[in-house]
Amino acid sequence: MKIGIYGGAFDPFHNGHLSMIRGVIASKKVDRVIVIPTGMPCFKPARKVTLSPYRFYMVKAALKDEPKCEVCDIEQVFGKPSYTVETLKNLRKQKVVSDKDELFLMCGSDILFEFESWYQPEEILKQASLLCALRPGIDEGQARNEASHLEEKFGTKIRFFKIDGVEVASSKIRRENDFDDVSDVVKTFIKDHDLYSEDSPLMNVSDEMYKTLMQHCFTLFHEMSGKRLLHSMNVCVTATRFAIRFGADPDKCALAGLLHDCAKELPEKEQIDLAAKIIHGYIPGKQILHSPAGAVYAREHYGVEDQEVLDAIQYHTIGREVMTITDKIVYLADKIEPARHFDDLSEIRRLAEDDLDGALIECYCAIRESFAEKGQEIHEDTKKSLAYLLAQREK
Ligand SMILES: [Fe+2]
Ligand SMILES: [Fe+2]
Repeated sequence: MKIGIYGGAFDPFHNGHLSMIRGVIASKKVDRVIVIPTGMPCFKPARKVTLSPYRFYMVKAALKDEPKCEVCDIEQVFGKPSYTVETLKNLRKQKVVSDKDELFLMCGSDILFEFESWYQPEEILKQASLLCALRPGIDEGQARNEASHLEEKFGTKIRFFKIDGVEVASSKIRRENDFDDVSDVVKTFIKDHDLYSEDSPLMNVSDEMYKTLMQHCFTLFHEMSGKRLLHSMNVCVTATRFAIRFGADPDKCALAGLLHDCAKELPEKEQIDLAAKIIHGYIPGKQILHSPAGAVYAREHYGVEDQEVLDAIQYHTIGREVMTITDKIVYLADKIEPARHFDDLSEIRRLAEDDLDGALIECYCAIRESFAEKGQEIHEDTKKSLAYLLAQREK
């Protein structure tokens, strides 16, 4: 089978990318396309690129109904940058493609002029041939001349295919927040995950913490569903935003936010065993169990030693009588991160602009009300926390 390999940061995935995929399929030069969002960037500081699971799931959403096309997570397993040549070799090693498959590395014509400076170009060409897109308006003669030079130098054959789309620059989309050149699906994804906002909160965590968060994202990618990972990342970003707003520690809030649900998809028995290490005498209900289990799992599996972070994970479902600022922030971020779409969140979100305790009280009251509608009462610890906050405000 002839397979087009299309790698990139896709930050964001835009109509220029889509025209490459549709163009190559229409050209019949390949039978299918494997799209590979990069994990950790090779040539840019990591902070300059959106965390990889966001980009991976954005591409997945964008190409959900695209025929003859699949999105591959091979670079999401790598906790380090992967050069093109390594990725190509890994595709065969991990049997994503078979030895019989013929691989074509898809690229724009601009790549021809820089290909010689890539890492191990001759090795790349042993794994795949170049398949180059010709966009309207480019100097085709110049591209073909450069291709002839590369063909002679490396003993390879370079093929071309025509595409309709004009050049779109991801950097311009990010910089100007102008989303005319992305599909509606991508627009919704960007909105739901608050990507590309001007005040990117993760810029405020320390370098060391940013690296830690990235590494944990790679681990979490394998440990939880996409939906929960995206929720966890949203809580991480929202909690960091609140930390800056309310004078808490961005590193602690980011870490607790990312890991707050880290035990939620573990088997129930494992969660019980983990929770039993810090809760004695009773087993919390299913909805709550993952919080104490998560605190232990974060310590044992993710190496978190900061008790304030572990506490915020432990109390993110029901709270506790006296909450630390990190507890409050993670609790609230979990309830109102941007992908949460409940009707009654607007007032809590409004309060969270400048009144952390007020937002928390509003949130507790909303939960109490929805429990009451079902004839249930909120947890004793939540009641205590609410009473404490109300008493503090009366002082
Ligand atoms: Fe949770
Ligand atoms: Fe959560």
